[in-house]
Amino acid sequence: MTDIAKYVTDNRERYEAELAEFLRIPSVSTDGSRADDVVAAAEWLAAKIREAGLEDAEVIATDGHPIVVASHITDPSAPTVLVYGHYDVQPEDPVDLWTSPPFEPDIRDGRMYARGSVDDKGQVYMHVKALEARLANGLGMPVNVKLVFEGEEEVGSKNLEAFLKSHSDRLSADAVLISDTGMFSRDVPSITIGLRGLAYVEVICTGPKGDLHSGSYGGAVVNPANALCKIVAGLKDEDGRVTIPGFYDKVLDVSAIEKEGLAKLPFDEPGFISETGVTELDGEVGFDTLERLWYRPTLDVNGLLSGFTGEGAKTVLPSHAMAKVSMRLVPNQDPSEIAELARAHIQNLAPRGVTVEVHEHHGGTPWVSDPASSIFEAGAAALEKAFGSQPVFIREGGSIPIVPMFESLFGPVMLLGFGLPGSNLHAPDEWIDLEMYNKGIATLVDLYDEIASRGV
Ligand code: BES
Ligand code: MN
Ligand code: MN
Repeated sequence: MTDIAKYVTDNRERYEAELAEFLRIPSVSTDGSRADDVVAAAEWLAAKIREAGLEDAEVIATDGHPIVVASHITDPSAPTVLVYGHYDVQPEDPVDLWTSPPFEPDIRDGRMYARGSVDDKGQVYMHVKALEARLANGLGMPVNVKLVFEGEEEVGSKNLEAFLKSHSDRLSADAVLISDTGMFSRDVPSITIGLRGLAYVEVICTGPKGDLHSGSYGGAVVNPANALCKIVAGLKDEDGRVTIPGFYDKVLDVSAIEKEGLAKLPFDEPGFISETGVTELDGEVGFDTLERLWYRPTLDVNGLLSGFTGEGAKTVLPSHAMAKVSMRLVPNQDPSEIAELARAHIQNLAPRGVTVEVHEHHGGTPWVSDPASSIFEAGAAALEKAFGSQPVFIREGGSIPIVPMFESLFGPVMLLGFGLPGSNLHAPDEWIDLEMYNKGIATLVDLYDEIASRGV
């Protein structure tokens, strides 16, 4: 074992204890009452980055939550890698469904359970520890590195683009490195080269001016809950295809080469079924599971609300019904175009006697990368050394809306993520596998040498 590998192994417990400290700060970006905690998380992170040896680490205010920036410049003429991540987390609710409290990290079976453990504080912190390990062991940095960690990813990164542009001197870079995704499986380290995009609408269906007795009025007055169900049911057909006219117009076919690549991946479909707890899978006819997740767009209801939902039975004809509907998009669909098409179709599906409003929430552009840049080779080499098995290029069904922007501002973006399938991001009992955490740090320590030897 090299000295640095030994250092990373020897410091495992400290790395875990520090991560637990970070996870105790409830930096929930959607929750206005926790704005101070979001700032506290940023300050905590900046202090740790300074301790790691990047002395200029700074918390910079924005119109929303602050952004943490830092750099280590070895040689202004050497290539510069910009590391992005987010220290904000999703809300913890439903809190009753957690086995241990969401902000009291608990280690069970080699996993650390806490909100943000894998998305994305744990993965952000792996970068900080990798830099610390290099600098503490006198390895220095063979390339320049800059860090940008934001506190608004989970709420749409509203202030990030303006920030990057207004700090362009400080933040110039040749390539971008992001750890906010997962691996194909525990034994298959991965680089993600495609993300789905997102269009998101909220549908509000209004009928009578107030709630009515469902006996006195039911059958003669249109029920907005029934109407909304009809609308929602009309959004997909029997074959699992989205019915919105024009929805598939810009979707690219899965190429023969891509199909070949998918067939080679050791996908464990029964494992996937048991991970989700469903009895069987269902989706768009004519595509297999990985195609459905990575290459095909889809539509899902994310939330539904109407009428009486308390204990027992109450006979009421509700005045309103609401649905939150997301559409995961693939290249070359455009989020605002799709939201417009959805709006028109939803209005068309609305039964008589109700009015329907469609509000658009923030979305994200789908992304696919051509892994031609030498940093992908460097990433694959570092993963192979740390994990002892050959990495694969995969796509991801989730979205990281800022990726296309980073690519256009700086250059190639490499998504090197260490989450495992089933790690419950955005759900109760989110966890990070502590072996992946440690191997991820080892990967990131080596990565800089791999990049330096290949160039960007
Ligand atoms: N880290 C996730 C993206 C992700 C999801 C990676 C699943 C790997 C697996 C990111 O923080 C996220 O939650 N993205 C949102 C985007 C939304 C908030 C605009 C998503 O995909 O829903
Ligand atoms: Mn994330
Ligand atoms: Mn997330």
